[in-house]
Amino acid sequence: MEKKNIDWGNLGFGYVRTDVRYVSNYTNGAWDEGVLTEDSNIVLNECAGVLQYAQTVFEGLKAYTTEDGHIVTFRPDLNAERMMASAARLEMPVFPKERFLDAVTKTVAANAAYVPPYGSGATLYLRPYMFGVNPVIGVKPANDYQFRLFCTPVGPYFKGGVKPLTIRVSDFDRAAPHGTGHIKAGLNYAMSLHAIVSAHNEGYDENMYLDPGTRTKVEETGGANFLFVTRDNKVVTPKSDSILPSITRRSLLHVAKEYLGLEVEEREVLLSEVSDFAECGLCGTAAVISPVGKIVDHGREICLPSGMTEMGPVTKKLYDTLTGIQMGRIEAPKGWLHVIE
Ligand code: PLP
Ligand code: COI
Repeated sequence: MEKKNIDWGNLGFGYVRTDVRYVSNYTNGAWDEGVLTEDSNIVLNECAGVLQYAQTVFEGLKAYTTEDGHIVTFRPDLNAERMMASAARLEMPVFPKERFLDAVTKTVAANAAYVPPYGSGATLYLRPYMFGVNPVIGVKPANDYQFRLFCTPVGPYFKGGVKPLTIRVSDFDRAAPHGTGHIKAGLNYAMSLHAIVSAHNEGYDENMYLDPGTRTKVEETGGANFLFVTRDNKVVTPKSDSILPSITRRSLLHVAKEYLGLEVEEREVLLSEVSDFAECGLCGTAAVISPVGKIVDHGREICLPSGMTEMGPVTKKLYDTLTGIQMGRIEAPKGWLHVIE
């Protein structure tokens, strides 16, 4: 199969229309069987639940070309499960796991020409999502829904690839106590738009959000979980009910323990202890692991000893091992790679 003529090495993290997407509709209490379509537009009623009350959830995962030429996705079963949890929290019907995996397989296979070649530095980002479609004017869940899955080839999420980032402690929260921070709903991202625009305007790459209850503990950024490394090489990640349970973070903890023999800790992380860490990274599907070099807390600069030019040594080992697994260079734990073709 001939690949599309795309400058893979210079892709940013943006939308490129691909040939085919998957659509399934939920009406009268049941999902239809789903189809692949070339139509990338959606026609909606003006009063659709998603437009009025933001009833929508989504996922993000990637397809990779492995060293030996297969196309694989990484732990899509966990995306399916997380989407089910997100939907349940917003009173939406769940899209069954087997259907989700089938939609991933069909959409990636149909767009194989857009899966970036091995070694190009790019990947195919998959965006499954679902939303309420019928008219809703009183505040209540919709009755009818649509599930869709499209894909787009992407490069690094942060400009500059793996150059260390400068982030700031945000005065805004992205989640409420007992709210929806732990699910992947569009509303959480709408909440973060003002904060990210103002962070960018002030020269920062991202926001560090604190726990919304006490504003003393580290939560996450707008699109990734935190990972810290102590001066004695222990990997620490924040534990909180209001952060998204990142699949990358869960995978990295396993990699740290089982592949690199490192001690790992998932626990509350106080903002006041961040200056004690040796390394900091942002982890997520889009971010992979993006190193953080500096954290600015209202004028106080916390400079990570790993510096502003390279990833810290432990972060680099984690990055190399995780991407090695995803690209088939390092043997994956059983069930982590879902082979498309
Ligand atoms: N946190 C937020 C707010 C995110 O949007 C994402 C991206 O999906 C993550 C963390 C990382 O999660 P994952 O590793 O499952 O992509
Ligand atoms: C992902 O990593 O898949 C996300 O959804 C993060 C988003 C900010 C692009």
